[in-house]
Amino acid sequence: MERPFPTVAVVGLGTMGAGVAVAVARSGRRVIGIEATEDSAARALARIEEATAHAVDRERITAGERTALLARISVGHALTAAAEADLVIEEVPEQLELKREVFAELDRICPEDTVLATGTTALSVTRIAAATARPERVLGLHFFNPVHTMKLVEVVRTVLTSPQTAEDAAAFARDLGKEPVAAGDRAGFVVNGLLFAYLNQAAAMYESRYASREDIDAAMRLGCGLPMGPLALLDLIGVDTARTVLEAMYEQSRDKLHAPAPILGQLVSAGLLGRKSGRGFYTYEAPGSSKAVDAATGPARAKVPGRAVHTVGVCGSGTMATGIAEVFAKAGHPVLLAARSQEKADRAKAQLAKSLERSVAKGRLSGEQRDAALALVTPVGQYSELAEVDLVVEAVAEDLAVKRELFATLDKIVRPGAVLATTTSSLPVISCATATSRPQDVIGMHFFNPAPAMKLVEVVSTVLTAPDVTATVLELTAKVRKHPVECGDRAGFIVNALLFPYLNDAVRMLQEHYATVDDIDTAMKLGCGYPMGPFELLDVVGLDVSLTIEQVLHQEFREPGLAAAPLLEHLVAAGCLGRKTGRGFRDHARR
Ligand SMILES: NC(=O)c1ccc[n+]([C@@H]2O[C@H](COP(=O)([O-])OP(=O)(O)OC[C@H]3O[C@@H](n4cnc5c(N)ncnc54)[C@H](O)[C@@H]3O)[C@@H](O)[C@H]2O)c1
Repeated sequence: MERPFPTVAVVGLGTMGAGVAVAVARSGRRVIGIEATEDSAARALARIEEATAHAVDRERITAGERTALLARISVGHALTAAAEADLVIEEVPEQLELKREVFAELDRICPEDTVLATGTTALSVTRIAAATARPERVLGLHFFNPVHTMKLVEVVRTVLTSPQTAEDAAAFARDLGKEPVAAGDRAGFVVNGLLFAYLNQAAAMYESRYASREDIDAAMRLGCGLPMGPLALLDLIGVDTARTVLEAMYEQSRDKLHAPAPILGQLVSAGLLGRKSGRGFYTYEAPGSSKAVDAATGPARAKVPGRAVHTVGVCGSGTMATGIAEVFAKAGHPVLLAARSQEKADRAKAQLAKSLERSVAKGRLSGEQRDAALALVTPVGQYSELAEVDLVVEAVAEDLAVKRELFATLDKIVRPGAVLATTTSSLPVISCATATSRPQDVIGMHFFNPAPAMKLVEVVSTVLTAPDVTATVLELTAKVRKHPVECGDRAGFIVNALLFPYLNDAVRMLQEHYATVDDIDTAMKLGCGYPMGPFELLDVVGLDVSLTIEQVLHQEFREPGLAAAPLLEHLVAAGCLGRKTGRGFRDHARR
């Protein structure tokens, strides 16, 4: 079969166009590069020469390959040169009128069967196609920056694009060594549609002073394994670009969650566009630099001295309780692992021993360290044994009545001045606090699963938590080699409040038949460098657990866009809960 599109014209050789031209030439195709003026054409050619020389330095290509590649690229400033191309990829600046003009001209210049593609990020491909008399051969080819490293290409079909055109374009992308995913024409397509709503919520969270920028960024990196925090990413993308994409998304969805957070407009008005202008959410060494000079490094710090903590009580016998007990024991704290019966407590300690054993097998822990940690853990079958501890961390069932009863019990038993912490992920910490006569000593300490491995702890203070209690937990968390972030007592804290609306958006995208499970997962992994796609993650977390968190978030913020997607509710009702039942968004049993 003939390779699709042997000759390709690239119109606009800026950041994206130059990258696309090189990628196409590398595939052995002839490239006709077209810039606006003679001067800009000369500059573009110099940029391409420089970029490919850099690729030789980095040993991505050989000097010989570079010479051959450059020989296949011609650069000029007459759009008429596009007449010889089988495919034209437009990469001019993101302005609708400009793109429409270029397409109208191309339509006149190019033979009838030439395919015209736009590189737009947020404009309507349909409106661009409407400037031509061949909308069936117009589509979007959305590459990611930098083109040479990012494998994803969104192939965007309008209602008028012919299936053959889309198929040929996908085959072309594959032939460039890229991974094409199919998307329909809506603002943001798959990746930005999911990414920017999340970035917007992070900006709004910062704007409302719910948490510091460092804590928001650290929470998403350490709690979800994302390559960058959302505010640092906004600075990288450009605050102006983000605002433009969000405006386009809002115009189509009328979803308040897409309305650009006011702070984005303020930053743009002030010229604080992110890294490129030297300042955005963070301040950088110089314009274009990636080095933030005003970011607080390290975990959140206490403003007042904390209380001394030596012995720790952990309530519960499940995964979280044993994981948390392990964290404290490994850091040298004597731990009373308290369950409702001695038998349960003993079993929990056996689980903990197994986990330590695995660490030894993996070479992460020595035999002596294992023995020392294990010797520090005492399983107890009654909460009354916790009378003398300095801190209690509760990790029993996620049920408010159960937790309140436990806090009322602890209130009667534990010595005055001890800190009482809950590791709840979705219940109000204040409701635990008010079950005691000492709400000032109660705080949230939200560990992530598996606790021994996950570095993040959300330290959740209520309106009644005493400052020295917050200080105690911040200090202690850092001491046990975790990264504390500070936030207030509202649904979802930082991580879940930003993560679950994004997961819900992905479910809605699927429910609307906008893209498939595999395409959405692939797009987020390749387009954003996420460790897992949203549906992989939902299947791991459990659909029932996810639904509960989404319901709690919706109940708290009453934002219509946060209502759980009906498809998620249906799957839960059908007993498809994810990996644990063998079926969720994917069928795991058959794999
Ligand atoms: N930069 C990114 O991260 C990124 C990522 C994906 C997609 N995009 C999209 O790619 C497209 C190009 O963006 P960019 O970042 O490369 O912009 P850019 O400003 O770096 O480059 C645009 C180039 O087009 C040239 N140009 C302007 N008018 C022209 C005309 N009439 N004919 C020919 N050339 C013309 C300019 O001289 C410039 O070199 C935009 O639609 C953008 O939204 C950008």
